[in-house]
Amino acid sequence: MVYTLPKLNFEYNSLEPFMDAQTVQIHHSKHHQTYTDKLNEAVSKHPELFKKKPEELLKNNLALVPEDIKTAVRNHGGGYWNHCFFWEILAPGKQTPSEKFKKIIEKEFESFDKFKEQFSNAALTQFGSGWAWLVLTPEKKLKIYNLPNQDSPISKGDIPLLTIDVWEHAYYLKYQNKRVEFIANFWNIINWKKVEELYKSAIK
Ligand SMILES: [Fe+2]
Repeated sequence: MVYTLPKLNFEYNSLEPFMDAQTVQIHHSKHHQTYTDKLNEAVSKHPELFKKKPEELLKNNLALVPEDIKTAVRNHGGGYWNHCFFWEILAPGKQTPSEKFKKIIEKEFESFDKFKEQFSNAALTQFGSGWAWLVLTPEKKLKIYNLPNQDSPISKGDIPLLTIDVWEHAYYLKYQNKRVEFIANFWNIINWKKVEELYKSAIK
């Protein structure tokens, strides 16, 4: 198996005006493609690893991955998987979470607004490039944190449920230095149906 760039479930312009078509196109067809190519390049040094799914390479702090390609797989395998996940949790149409899922969030974070605030703050305060995450921990607790570069919650043993890419390539063309506006608009393009599915399967 060679890792391939996934097709998007939406058109490049579907997330307008919150995420502009040009950004989505470059993000997917250039940045994500480069992570894909560089992951393949690294793994081709140990081709038996192509049998593994990217998430299997990343888990347990990349325990399966030989030392000579570990940094490349952390960066490009992380970049490959994180972006595959990101496209899955985005959707046009201004979805809202179900009442049931809202209650689960409220139980953990006091209120839905506090959850939004905490997640947005994790995204805003990630210094430099990285991602903010909502995850389910092995103790089945919902948790929010940010991680630098292309580090993945999978490597820490957590199950990702929601994420936002705050690398400048994710927003700079439309928002320039205004990361805060990009984050505020992100709430309009979340695929809550997918997030809830992920939660249901993670909590089992
Ligand atoms: Fe990105």
